[in-house]
Amino acid sequence: MTQPGPAHHVFRYGSGDFADTVIARASGSYVYDRDGRAILDFTSGQMSSILGHSHPEIVAAAREAVGRLDHVHSSFLTDDVLAFSEALAAIVPDPLTKVLPLSTGGESNEAALRMAKTVTGGFEIVAFDRAWHGVTGGAASATYSGGRRGHGPGLPGALVLPTPDPYRSPFVTDGHHDWRAELDFGFDLIDRQSVGQLAAVIAEPVLSSGGIVELPEGYLAALQAKCRERGMLLILDEAQTGMGRTGTLFACERDGVVPDILNLSKTLGAGLPLSASITSAEIEEACVERGYLFYTTHAADPVPAAVGRKVVEIVVRDRLHERARELGAYMKDRLRDLQQRHECIGDVRGRGLLLGVELVEDRQSKRPARELGLAVAQRSLELGASLNISRRQVANIFRIAPPLTVTRDEIDTAIAILDQAITECVARGPAT
Ligand SMILES: Cc1ncc(COP(=O)(O)O)c(C=O)c1O
Repeated sequence: MTQPGPAHHVFRYGSGDFADTVIARASGSYVYDRDGRAILDFTSGQMSSILGHSHPEIVAAAREAVGRLDHVHSSFLTDDVLAFSEALAAIVPDPLTKVLPLSTGGESNEAALRMAKTVTGGFEIVAFDRAWHGVTGGAASATYSGGRRGHGPGLPGALVLPTPDPYRSPFVTDGHHDWRAELDFGFDLIDRQSVGQLAAVIAEPVLSSGGIVELPEGYLAALQAKCRERGMLLILDEAQTGMGRTGTLFACERDGVVPDILNLSKTLGAGLPLSASITSAEIEEACVERGYLFYTTHAADPVPAAVGRKVVEIVVRDRLHERARELGAYMKDRLRDLQQRHECIGDVRGRGLLLGVELVEDRQSKRPARELGLAVAQRSLELGASLNISRRQVANIFRIAPPLTVTRDEIDTAIAILDQAITECVARGPAT
């Protein structure tokens, strides 16, 4: 049924109803509804606003840029795009030096998948069975955590790898998650299914929409070795983990792994539409030789580029990755305190300021507590904190990702709200 009221003319793109509050403005770690009610934004908007909302330097950069040079033909370069590309190339790991500026995460993944196909001559794309890479054709074909039904086939050559989830993996040896066995098993299946034209693996270092699943230490290096054995490229989609959120500038740094293509979006524009696909000079050269084309309306836009350059400057200058590491450790400890007191919290996980809290019916069965998850999210919002549930099908995993500028007081407030919401919802019992 159509949602009554103000949403009457808005297409319900999320296949359900919108939140029943209308947001009028935002500042720092808060969004404010029409009535001026403050809501702590512990999702950083759509997992993007790492600098908090309306950071004064971002507002100034965007205003200045749009007033000076708003848009150009995509064959023109601008100083903003040159400076942005140079700033980004300076902070990503070597030998990634070639920046393709784009607008959205899905778009950057399309660009990277097309690069991999162009360079390898293959077309088969491997992704995790709980991945989210976007809703556009190629990205959607490599996305398994939602949106797959009702619109026909994806692209041929889409292959899956089991998500190495230590909390739920069936691969256990001597009581420990045996991710190597899980990875070997996955590639055995891939090798049997492949028609011999493997092009790339695309992966999130921490699967976010898939339920905050951090790839175990060593996994990325082993995955890269599997790619190299098969002549495949490794594409890392750091839409959410990039720009400091996990405690290093890029999540792959923890593992000492440099992908063939690094994709950034969401956090790169800190809330404005900006993404980038970054690769080596060698891959770029091979793409150009083979006629690679990814010509978009907004590739050369100066305004998002000016914003992106400022985001890079602020993150590096204010050492926000270190802040994410420290505050993330603090928040994880507070969440673990809650876990001590609430039997329904089965697992607390994640890295830096990208944390997950999994609610279960009981810790033995680990059955997902879906109704409870939905109720706690709703009650938290009523109490003044927006805490997002990932994997809506199971709806029991909270994805907690405040801006990197969040304060300890704000973290304490959000934890207190979550505590109260869980206490009340558990006491109320299952809805009848
Ligand atoms: C890891 C990851 N990649 C790509 C995307 C798609 O980005 P966009 O919605 O900007 O196309 C998302 C969006 O949630 C994401 O989480």
